[in-house]
Amino acid sequence: MNLSRRSLLKSAAALAVFPTLARSAPLTLTAREGAQLIAPPGYPETDIWGFDGSVPGSPIHLKQGERVQRRLVNELPQATSVHWHGIRIDNAMDGVPGLTQEAVPSGATFDYDFIVPDAGTYWYHAHNKSVEQVARGLYGPLIVHESEAPDVGQDLVLMLDDWRLDPETAQITQDFDNGHDLSHAGRLGNLTTVNGAFDPSFPVQQNQRLRLRLVNAANARVFTVGLDGMSGWIVALDGMPLAEPIPIEDTFPLAPAQRADLLVDVLAADAETASLFSQERDGAFGLARFSVAGQAASTPRSGVRPLPPNPLPELTDINNVPRHEMRLQGGAMRWLESARIGETQLSGRELAQLGRFWALNGYAERPEDPFLDASLGSVHRIAFVNETVFPHAMHLHGHHFRLILPDGSLGPWRDTVLVERGETREIALVTDNPGNWLLHCHMLGHAASGMMSWYRVT
Ligand code: C2O
Ligand code: CU
Repeated sequence: MNLSRRSLLKSAAALAVFPTLARSAPLTLTAREGAQLIAPPGYPETDIWGFDGSVPGSPIHLKQGERVQRRLVNELPQATSVHWHGIRIDNAMDGVPGLTQEAVPSGATFDYDFIVPDAGTYWYHAHNKSVEQVARGLYGPLIVHESEAPDVGQDLVLMLDDWRLDPETAQITQDFDNGHDLSHAGRLGNLTTVNGAFDPSFPVQQNQRLRLRLVNAANARVFTVGLDGMSGWIVALDGMPLAEPIPIEDTFPLAPAQRADLLVDVLAADAETASLFSQERDGAFGLARFSVAGQAASTPRSGVRPLPPNPLPELTDINNVPRHEMRLQGGAMRWLESARIGETQLSGRELAQLGRFWALNGYAERPEDPFLDASLGSVHRIAFVNETVFPHAMHLHGHHFRLILPDGSLGPWRDTVLVERGETREIALVTDNPGNWLLHCHMLGHAASGMMSWYRVT
């Protein structure tokens, strides 16, 4: 293990602390307060909001094509809702207050009931006041298993998060509407966790093959993920299998809401430790450790096969289809001169007073009319033109899309695309799922302060 990568883990001698992931959810999903050890040992427990009182919330595992039925019970002091991120879902179950349902008040319930058409790694999270509610811990894994899953020694869900805790008390700082965060990179934290625990350790064996399902549940942090003592392939992105697995030769970005499924082999020897780390500008820090005890085989496995494909629509010809531009505007150093909220044109200063710092095509709030009005089954290109000096993780509800690569060819299917500062990224999609669908930046502070739009499929 390379110690420098772990230099920020001052108390890395931390014992492994596993969150209680193993309980199987009944037919309810209760949003409520809870407390758990988030910070390193020696700190007090952190008060969180979680589904069934823990973070991550109760894991939901099922097979492709099965049905999810959960009664959301809201025991929080705020209204909430659940969005099933990445599921190509029935619109009425999408969990967006003001667009697909009303927010569920304290003390009330809402019944979610939908089919999962695709296998893969998904997640669910609160979608009301998300900048606060997700930061407090309201998210969990939704894993849809292939009928023929790859043969692995262990299948691990690793939900990455980034917390802003008071360093004295280990409590979540409540500055969710901090204007500096909103107008810059969003709410970045001071402690990262995997599955709600700081620096957890997972027992593995040398030459064991692992499936690692990475989910970035952070409000704003883009992790730059790397592996030490393990090597393998990315086999799926945002739930969708890659036709050709990508060998992991270097670090790769995982933006808020994105997922990556990895198939890796443990190369570290018996009694050594492999690790998952994030490479930041000022050094790397460890996210999780994998403590090797024993050998699964005398040599690592060789090769990998793609995961079985999901029933995505045919999308091959993107010439002669309408192209829609979405300009990402505002933020620090590119301050909005003006933008609209509804019919009203406001100056940058008026917008700032309302806590709005960003705009999508001149709107600093989800507009009355959709950005795109698409007929069912049509094909569209969307170009995200980032005029700001910050990266944005643009997410479409209801559909996956294909990236259009710089050479014009079609890249992987995703539901969230990272658009770097000053960059333009194009995507293409078949609008085959009817309804009103949100389109927004998944840096949740940006979404709360202007980067929110929608499209309609009829
Ligand atoms: Cu996970 Cu509207 O998003
Ligand atoms: Cu953004």
